[in-house]
Amino acid sequence: MKNFRYCNPVEIVFGKGQIATLPELIPADVTVMITFGGGSIKKNGVYDQVMKALAGRKVVEFGGIEPNPRYETLMKAVAEVKQKNVGFLLAVGGGSVLDGTKFIAAAAKFEGAEPWDILDKGAEVKETVPLATVITLPATGSESNALAVISRESTQEKLMFATPKVFPKFAVIDPETNFSLPMIQVSNGIVDTFVHVSELYMTYPQNAPLQDGMAESIYRVLVDEGPKVFKDPKNYDIRANLCWAATWGLNWWIAQGVVEDWTTHVIGHEVTAFTGTDHAQTLALLLPAVWKHQRNEKGDKLVQFGKRVFGLTETDREKMIDQVIERTKAFFREVGIDASKKAYGVTDEVCKKIVDVFTQRNAKLGEHGKIGPKEVVEIFALCD
Ligand code: NZQ
Ligand code: ZN
Repeated sequence: MKNFRYCNPVEIVFGKGQIATLPELIPADVTVMITFGGGSIKKNGVYDQVMKALAGRKVVEFGGIEPNPRYETLMKAVAEVKQKNVGFLLAVGGGSVLDGTKFIAAAAKFEGAEPWDILDKGAEVKETVPLATVITLPATGSESNALAVISRESTQEKLMFATPKVFPKFAVIDPETNFSLPMIQVSNGIVDTFVHVSELYMTYPQNAPLQDGMAESIYRVLVDEGPKVFKDPKNYDIRANLCWAATWGLNWWIAQGVVEDWTTHVIGHEVTAFTGTDHAQTLALLLPAVWKHQRNEKGDKLVQFGKRVFGLTETDREKMIDQVIERTKAFFREVGIDASKKAYGVTDEVCKKIVDVFTQRNAKLGEHGKIGPKEVVEIFALCD
């Protein structure tokens, strides 16, 4: 295991009715900006719960943060934060709203001329407006991590930044808020969580039995509970387990002390940038292909995963790896995602544009840093 130093300071406030506790969690003397997306929170009662809880406080609103939150929109919020002297940001929605709010928090205090530099050039974030989250879609883990992914419409870029300065102060996770989710977003959330765990786990044995065991537990919750939610969508207990799995999928505890491999996400972000395909669906397309391509490098962990998560008993290593990949694709279909290049408009031309991006960046992905543009071409060829 590698040395590590990590502090996840996010207070988790989990369960039914917990939005009502917001007044205990937010300082009383600041102007709070509620940020949200395209309106789901106004239809499902979450907005009303938040407003009721914050009655008597100074509250302003910024709505309209889109899925794959756009820099152009977020900069409008930054102007309002400055103009209205906002002292606390409360993001209410899915990962896009939360990520967008992390960027608003950083950009509003950014001293340089161009806040895009935070994403594009890794410019240092010295100060932020304090922020917190009410998560309504279990998927990204954004409610309790320090990462955000932002898109820029004008240049078709989708980039991420991470800094402990954007850790939320708290995360309210009420599984009941998930009842209104369209089923495709539920599917997306399960697959996104599955792939987060994979990016942290599916490398090579690293003498990390605790991290492995925790990752395998998250996988098992997804595999056991995921399919049930489609038959019983109003079941609180299933929703609660999926929420907690999503938070643990990317609160970075299972990442501590181990080498990671974010190949699937990094290529997936480009697929979204060029085709608009939902984040999780790009992952469902790419993960099996990355595993096929990296079957030697990842073989030991693929076999361990096959045994411990899917209960497979095959003794021939190569056949086992094939079974793991097929079983994973079947799981994605079981939870509603049947990924293919054709379905998502990932044409040869799109693949070429994406490979060009990696060539320009001189990308070296994978736990061994050996996945470059040539390998990305091969991975696309292995996608369904
Ligand atoms: O915009 P509204 O009206 O709120 O509707 C949203 C949106 O249309 C809707 N929704 C959310 N909660 C709902 C609901 N509809 C009904 N009832 C509810 N309770 O769902 C739609 C999708 O929302 P979005 O926030 O875009 O989805 P998700 O949470 O999957 O976030 C995806 C974004 O997160 C980034 C992705 O790249 C993508 O931009 N990621 C962020 C990560 C992080 N911060 O750690 C890691 C991830 O790997 C990922 O890259
Ligand atoms: Zn993801």
